[in-house]
Amino acid sequence: MTCPEKTIGVLTSGGDCAGLNAVIHAVVARAILGYGWRVLGIQQGTQGLLRRPVDATPLDLHSASPAVARMAGTILGTTNRGDPFAYPMPDGTFKDRSEEIIEGVRLLGLDALIGIGGDGSMAILRRLAQQGGIPFIGVPKTIDNDVGATESSVGYHTAVMVATEAIDRLQPTAASHDRVMVLEVMGRDSGHIALAAGIAGGADVILVPEIPYTLEAVAAHIKKLRQGAHNFAIVVVAEAVRDKTGAPVQLRHALGNATYGGIGHVLGEALGQMTGAETRVTVLGHVQRGGQPTWDDRLLACAFGVHAVDLVAEGKFDRLVVWQKRRVLDVPLTAAFDPAPLEVSDDTLVRIARGLGICLGDG
Ligand code: F6P
Repeated sequence: MTCPEKTIGVLTSGGDCAGLNAVIHAVVARAILGYGWRVLGIQQGTQGLLRRPVDATPLDLHSASPAVARMAGTILGTTNRGDPFAYPMPDGTFKDRSEEIIEGVRLLGLDALIGIGGDGSMAILRRLAQQGGIPFIGVPKTIDNDVGATESSVGYHTAVMVATEAIDRLQPTAASHDRVMVLEVMGRDSGHIALAAGIAGGADVILVPEIPYTLEAVAAHIKKLRQGAHNFAIVVVAEAVRDKTGAPVQLRHALGNATYGGIGHVLGEALGQMTGAETRVTVLGHVQRGGQPTWDDRLLACAFGVHAVDLVAEGKFDRLVVWQKRRVLDVPLTAAFDPAPLEVSDDTLVRIARGLGICLGDG
């Protein structure tokens, strides 16, 4: 295809996940092989655009090879801190540094920018693009799978695979010791990872933030299991599930921010007391973000990367690349901000879980 020579930038933003390097590889391959363009990889999300000289390196088919695509993490680095519109300064104040970032894009001479991020990153990057007139395309990634309009985001399948493997490994030790094993998984405010991995791994109880639960219902299910089917139980809980008072369980970090974490232990303690069963808790944490991307995350990443570059060639901007019904498509970027929680009333996986006799905590 003939298309005037261009320089495009690519960056990763927000929490990392498996499959980011596969998107970068696909962007580079399509831009260079398909159009003969130059690709600049911007380091550490918008942080690279704040530095002077701007922190960006040319990417070629060697630096973003298929071998790199197999690796977890991101060769560009990323950050989920430092909102450019309220950037934390050393003296404790917050400063709007958006114009510096826009200037960074200009200094690189970019004809377009492709940003790989979750809903939070998309909101920031779109705001910057609108303010600076930057031709921008968004590629959705997040283990949480909560970006609007796309059935899957890059990184989600790998996280589900890791959580499923964890259940597979917990089951034999739970059975050997007649224990209740609680597995806390990530997902921020959505229960996608917990539900999918819980079903795939054969959990007995799955608790997600979208479905209110009672400890009594969970304890009764475990007691019933232990009197009949088997003398152990696997409980999968999403990190944003609230405690019995309805409060979120969070960890406050040294830098002042807070993340979900700890509901597994709260639950384990309560269920141990209520059922009399010996209970152990595993918090899976960031291992869900690492490891080689699964085949389907790689496929999604390749589809998204190629499609994003084709959109640049078509001059179609302010778009979000999405996966819907086995096709890669694009929708207005604003669709990213409509959260994609489990639709509890008609979600297929909720119905399947119930059909399998898995307790979802609601009776
Ligand atoms: O959004 C991805 C995610 O891994 C969430 O599932 C989790 O709550 C959060 O990021 C953890 O953030 P951090 O990497 O800052 O600990």
